[in-house]
Amino acid sequence: MKITVVGTGYVGLVSGACFADVGIDVTCVDIDQKKIDKLKNGIMPIYEPGLEEIVVRNFKSGRLHFSTNLGEAIQGSEVAFIAVGTPPGEDGSADLQYVLAVADEIGTHMSDYIVVATKSTVPVTTGEKVRDAISNALKKRGSDLPFAVASNPEFLKEGAAVEDFLKPDRIVIGVDDERAEKIMQRLYKPFQLSGERIIYMDIPSAEMTKYAANAMLATKISFMNDIANLCERVGANANMVRKGIGTDPRIGNKFIFPGVGYGGSCFPKDVKAIVKTAAEYGHELRVLKAVEEVNEDQKYVLAAKVKSHFGEDLSGKTFAMWGLSFKPNTDDMRESPAAVIIDELRAAGAKVKAYDPKAMEEAKEHYIFDKVTYSSDAYDACVDADALLLVTEWSEFRIPSWEAIGKLLKSKVVFDGRNIYDKKYLKSQGFDHYGIGY
Ligand code: UDX
Repeated sequence: MKITVVGTGYVGLVSGACFADVGIDVTCVDIDQKKIDKLKNGIMPIYEPGLEEIVVRNFKSGRLHFSTNLGEAIQGSEVAFIAVGTPPGEDGSADLQYVLAVADEIGTHMSDYIVVATKSTVPVTTGEKVRDAISNALKKRGSDLPFAVASNPEFLKEGAAVEDFLKPDRIVIGVDDERAEKIMQRLYKPFQLSGERIIYMDIPSAEMTKYAANAMLATKISFMNDIANLCERVGANANMVRKGIGTDPRIGNKFIFPGVGYGGSCFPKDVKAIVKTAAEYGHELRVLKAVEEVNEDQKYVLAAKVKSHFGEDLSGKTFAMWGLSFKPNTDDMRESPAAVIIDELRAAGAKVKAYDPKAMEEAKEHYIFDKVTYSSDAYDACVDADALLLVTEWSEFRIPSWEAIGKLLKSKVVFDGRNIYDKKYLKSQGFDHYGIGY
């Protein structure tokens, strides 16, 4: 079986490499020649555990190809996945120009029946737009070749994307054509552990499923952050409350960790986009509007705690910051709360010394530039700093030597943005500990 995957970002590259790994002949296409050249040389555009190994292995074995020529790649392909970016436009809605340009090109170059499946997170009704774009391109060349569109949203978590792809919780396929459904069944057979886990539905429902899933997860986080902020006002411990509610299987113990707010390439964008879509259809998604508002405010909570400890004017102060990426095991800085915290501290006159195991290059290049000084390791960041801020809960930050940190810091104060430290223990070691609702 031969397929094409268009777009070599997180979703496209991971999907392409994993399909190749189960024996499918995959061509990954991208318009960025440099990116394609690098991939051919085993250089990954992103850091993702296990990705390099699986890409290199399948490239060498000849099952995974890289190309900038979409027209050529789709010849003989039974499925073409669209996995290009859908960046939010000014008004928060997803910008579909790249998705539709790919659809147009497929229509221009296809020479046989093909299933065109969107993997990018796209607004409900995009399936129809993709269909129209392909039909129009076919019409222009006077062709009436048959084709099908499908929606196959991705539920990959950054940092665990390869594992998520190879061992999915579920696969959602929106399709309205029998022939296409059979092709998708064959394609996903190697991943299917039980029949229940491949869910077929109509295209708009599949598109909606992706947004509803991410919106629900974002809701859990904002709900918990809101409750945590109340906990600290009434003298309750958000960690205990989390455990107390998480044991109810209807609530579940995952995704209810208070913190510095959610970030990344999905939640902020998707929550905005679904609110926007709803408005277009005359419906107000009130819960999700509040979810977004709570999350925006949450990014300011840690810096506010710093100011309430040291005073509003932080000039002359330096803070050690552990973690820059929006979550551990990724170098992704997109919508990372760290950027907001850094701006807040700097605006109050402070300096920041940051350390992150993977995201410092990304931060230097795109996000924080020269706003902070970068440290060679976690302890180096603490040298002569007034306090330590934990922003991203990388494993290597979990059990540090408090004795060493106590000697390096000017004052023994820890702002724990992810509630990973034991307040009582830190107190016994002479530290002030500030958590989120704890
Ligand atoms: C998410 C979805 O999990 C995935 O299914 C979808 O396909 C894309 O979006 P990802 O963006 O990689 O994946 O991040 P995820 O691990 O879900 O975390 C999102 C954010 O929520 C992070 O900023 C994280 O720190 C925050 N978070 C998560 C919390 O603050 N508390 C929690 O309890 C869980």
